[in-house]
Amino acid sequence: MRFILLGCGGFVGRNLLQRLLAEPGVSVFGVDRNAERVARFLGDRRFDFVEGDVYAPEVWSRVAGELDRADAVVNLAAVCQPAKYITHPMETLRSNALDVLPLVDLCTEKGAWLVHFSTSEIYGQSIRSKLPEGTGHDIPDGTLHIDEFDEHTSPLLMGPVRSPRWTYASAKQFLERYIAARAQQDGLAATIIRPFNFVGPEMDDVRRPGSTDIPRVYACFASALIYGEPLKLVNGGGQRRVATAIEDAVEALWLILTNPERSRHETYNIGNRAMEITIHDLAHRMRAVYAGITGDADAAETPIVPVSGEAFYGRGYQDCDRRMPRVDRLEALGWAPTMGWDEVLPGLLRHYIERAKILGVPLQGTAAE
Ligand code: UGA
Repeated sequence: MRFILLGCGGFVGRNLLQRLLAEPGVSVFGVDRNAERVARFLGDRRFDFVEGDVYAPEVWSRVAGELDRADAVVNLAAVCQPAKYITHPMETLRSNALDVLPLVDLCTEKGAWLVHFSTSEIYGQSIRSKLPEGTGHDIPDGTLHIDEFDEHTSPLLMGPVRSPRWTYASAKQFLERYIAARAQQDGLAATIIRPFNFVGPEMDDVRRPGSTDIPRVYACFASALIYGEPLKLVNGGGQRRVATAIEDAVEALWLILTNPERSRHETYNIGNRAMEITIHDLAHRMRAVYAGITGDADAAETPIVPVSGEAFYGRGYQDCDRRMPRVDRLEALGWAPTMGWDEVLPGLLRHYIERAKILGVPLQGTAAE
C-alpha cells in the first residue's frame, strides 16, 4: 500500500507516518513545509519526502503525479490553533478551505481516494447550551441527540460572524460541503475525519522565553508549570473537552485506511468518550502530575486562576462548551481506545520538561536540579 500525506510534519502527520512505516508493506509520499519535523524518517527507503508548500507549482506537480499510484491521499495541512483563528483569520480560511479546492478537484478527476482531516469544532456549540436549563431530550428516532454529536444527524451550531473563533469551523464546514457536493455530483471517494483533541508528546511546544504565541491547552499549562507561572482557566474552565491519545487516534486511522470498502464514503468522529474532562480538572491533574514527576512540592501549589476569553485570546473569542462524540461507526471497524489520562499525562509532561531543557528554558523550583 502507498499513501500520500500532505502536512506530514505536524503532530498528527508525524504520528501517522510512524504508524504507517511500522507496517512492512507500506510506503509513503509526504509533503511538509519543514523537513526538520520529519528528520527521523528521512533515512527510511519507504518514505519519499518533498519540502515545500503543497500548492507551490513544483510541489503540486509531484503530488499530482503521485495521485496515480497511491491508495489514498491524506490531507492534514491546515492552521488549527485557536489563537490564530482570531489573529490570522485569512490564513485560517485559506488553509482550511480555499487552498484545498484544487486537491478535491484533482482527486475527483483522477478517481483518487481523499481522506480529509476536518475537526470536532465543526459541531460548534452543544444543543443543550442553547436550551433553557432542565429541558431537552433526544428525539427517539435517532435524528437528534442532545448531548452527543453524531456524524450524520447532528446540526452544526456556529456562533456569529463577528466572532472570528468560528472562522475555522465554518471553513472546515464549507470544505466538507464542497467534498460532499463533489462526491454527490462527480463520484469523488472521500472520507472525513473529525478528530477530538488528539493529545500526546510533541503536540505543540513549550513556550520559548519572551514568546507571546498561544499554543493549545496542554502546552499552555505545561509551560506555565515549567515557568512557575499561574495556569490560566479561560472563562473559568467549566468547558469540557473529549481527548484522544495519539496512539489510539492513529490506530483508528489505520483501521479507516485499511477498510476502504467501508470507509471510502464515510465520516468518522475520533474521540475517546472516557477521556472527557473539564479544563478546570485538566489544570489540576496536570499540576499534580507535574509535581509528582519533578518532586517539587511548590509546583503542587502553582496558582490556577480564571481569565476572560477575550483577555486571553483577543476580541471575538467564543468557546465550545461540550463536545461528546458518538463513535459507533468507528467501533464497527473494531476500534477500542486503550489509553486514559493516567497513561497520557506523565509521558506528556516528561516530554515538555525534556523540551524545556533542550531549549534552555530555566525550570522553576526543584525541577531545575
Ligand atoms: C482545538 C483546535 O481548534 C484544533 O486543534 C482542533 O480542531 C480541535 O480543537 C480538536 O482537536 O478537536 P480547542 O479544544 O479549543 O480547539 O483547543 P485548546 O486550545 O487546546 O483549548 C481547549 C480549551 O482550553 C479551550 O476552552 C480554551 O479556552 C482552554 N484554555 C486554553 C485554557 O483554559 N487555558 C489555556 O491556557 C489554554
